[in-house]
Amino acid sequence: MPLDPAILNEMTLAEKIGQLTMVTAGYATTGPIVAGDTTAALKAGRIGSLFNLWGRDAVRAAQRQAVKETRLGIPLFFGLDVIHGFRTIFPIPLAETGAFDIALWERTAMEAAAEAAAEGIDLTFTPMLDIGRDPRWGRIAEGIGEDPLAGARFARAKVQGLQSRDFAGDGRLAACAKHFVAYGAVTAGRDYAPVDISRRTLEEVYLPPFHAAVAAGVASLMPAFTDLDGVPLSANGDMLRGVLRDRWGFEGIVISDYGAIGELIKHGVAGDLAEAAALALNAGVDIDMMAYAYERGLPDALDRGLVAMATLDAAVMRVLRFKEHLGLFDDPYRRCSGSEGETADRRASRRVAAREAGQRSLVLLKNEGGLLPFGGRHRRLAVIGPLADAPAEMLGPWASAGKGADAVSVLAGLHEALPAVDIVHAEGVSIAGEDRAGIAAAVEVARSADGVILCLGEAAAMSGEAASRARIDLPGCQEELFAAVAETGKPLVVLLFSGRPLSAPDVFARAKAVLACWFPGSEAGRAIADVLTGASSPVGRLPVTWPRHVGQVPIYFAARTGGRPENPADKYTSKYLDLPNAPEFPFGHGLGYGDIAFSDLAVDVGERLAISLTASNRGERDDEVVVFLFIRDPVASVARPALELKDFTRLRLAAGESLRLTFTLTRGRLSFLDQRLQPVFEGGDLEILVGPSADRARLLSTTITYR
Ligand code: NOJ
Repeated sequence: MPLDPAILNEMTLAEKIGQLTMVTAGYATTGPIVAGDTTAALKAGRIGSLFNLWGRDAVRAAQRQAVKETRLGIPLFFGLDVIHGFRTIFPIPLAETGAFDIALWERTAMEAAAEAAAEGIDLTFTPMLDIGRDPRWGRIAEGIGEDPLAGARFARAKVQGLQSRDFAGDGRLAACAKHFVAYGAVTAGRDYAPVDISRRTLEEVYLPPFHAAVAAGVASLMPAFTDLDGVPLSANGDMLRGVLRDRWGFEGIVISDYGAIGELIKHGVAGDLAEAAALALNAGVDIDMMAYAYERGLPDALDRGLVAMATLDAAVMRVLRFKEHLGLFDDPYRRCSGSEGETADRRASRRVAAREAGQRSLVLLKNEGGLLPFGGRHRRLAVIGPLADAPAEMLGPWASAGKGADAVSVLAGLHEALPAVDIVHAEGVSIAGEDRAGIAAAVEVARSADGVILCLGEAAAMSGEAASRARIDLPGCQEELFAAVAETGKPLVVLLFSGRPLSAPDVFARAKAVLACWFPGSEAGRAIADVLTGASSPVGRLPVTWPRHVGQVPIYFAARTGGRPENPADKYTSKYLDLPNAPEFPFGHGLGYGDIAFSDLAVDVGERLAISLTASNRGERDDEVVVFLFIRDPVASVARPALELKDFTRLRLAAGESLRLTFTLTRGRLSFLDQRLQPVFEGGDLEILVGPSADRARLLSTTITYR
């Protein structure tokens, strides 16, 4: 039955505001619970949606209260941060972005949605579409890396995977694109800090992933905690109404971040809760998450004439229509009925997907002398370090309903993969502690073996929300552990776990092989063992530029060169006295086990540009590669980036195979924003560059004239 707008006439003010109020469930050792005062508010119709409550029984009980015990019987909807998996945890989003694999991005989202929907969830606060160019910022782990084109493709794939064509379908979730917008540009990488960026950077870098999500039909969107040039996003009508609704035609709901409406007072744009509530509602925030600002502030705001009833009614109707779309008015229990869980086969197939996603997100940063894969070469393998036997850490900073006990550690994965190898283990040091006492024993263990795997990095909680770091190096005494183990001269592979690129110059200089593992999720140990042994190849690439030192950040390949580009021979050029500008590893970097080379770049200049090249696998193994297409516009009315990513594709090549591939670029895709920020195509010379990463030295390039 279609929703009748006359329903508004039956609602009291408190009930209307209730629909705009989202409240968190609590957590007990038994799992999520709805506390007593929340139950009372719920029965009074003062809550329209809950989050952090999952499990069919718990969801059903809360839904029953809404449907049976409130005056109007309007069903709740249930949200949760299913960031990179619900119970089965996939690699952190930054890692998965680096797979540059659209089918994988979609598949893991589909898997996560199905698992969460089966436990009563309707909406997930994902995908997080914040560009991250500053690894001090802990939330770089949850995001899409540094590039807007890759980010926009990730956005589309995630919305598609989570929602499919219609988020109301079985096993689907409504998605929530967040945090709108430019949250990743926080000053000095400090979470929640102010954001001050140019309108151009906003348009060219930070908006495109959100635009892609909206174009893909994302159901909801969350404004960032932060401000944009002084206007907090939770009160930013230019962004929430101007860009989102008017320019892009977004018709979904806008859900505030946790407590963000109340924080408008601390931001210094509202004097009290009534003003804060009015600012947010007028700007276009439909749902207040956990600030109770709408409940406590809107009645007063209405009395004071700060907000119109029509604005409130429009928000209420959007929320009710969202619930209608979810099918909740037809069957409020559609995601929480029945008591049967998924079949064991279904759960097992999801673990297989997690293992594959884990494999595909690992990035081989260094592999001197082809140390990896090591196949069955070792008789005794030393697996050392604080992250070797740390299953819970493998899940990363936001593991939703994931459990450490379900995750596979590196040690367990290697034992399983190499039953005939004598695997010995020492922790050496803890992740962040100052105790060096275990280093000597770890060195002994290393000496006793014919190969060493050293598992170093951050704890999962060192990235994610409220986890910025001013230092981005190995915490605690891990550098000392590394130095002592490296001294043994044993063939040394370092597995680096982190939610951000880490500055670890000694490790990169002295270890023979380094694998960036990020946080690979539930199947971490198996995925890593697959790659170390060579059962699968490392196919991940860096979704962010990897700095040598924190002093280089923010660092990203698309920066403009300026009028005095770095020239080591000329003091008065843009550089440091103590370090080169070049990063440790460029965007896109990642080695494989094959030997794939590119050649014969040709550009056919017609109505469109057809850019062709040959990829040849000269190695003895089948392998995959990501091919990036960049452009550089050397002369334009506005200085353009040193490199702009325009396309990428992933290829699989059998040993000895060559193939020719073609990218096409239209004029539209070559337009940029002129000085008045209007799209313009300016003909002229254009450098076309293709290859495996943003390292210019490794790119094939040619300059054409295109008008
Ligand atoms: C705060 C975070 O910024 C946001 O990403 C998340 O969705 C909400 N809390 C809800 O947990």
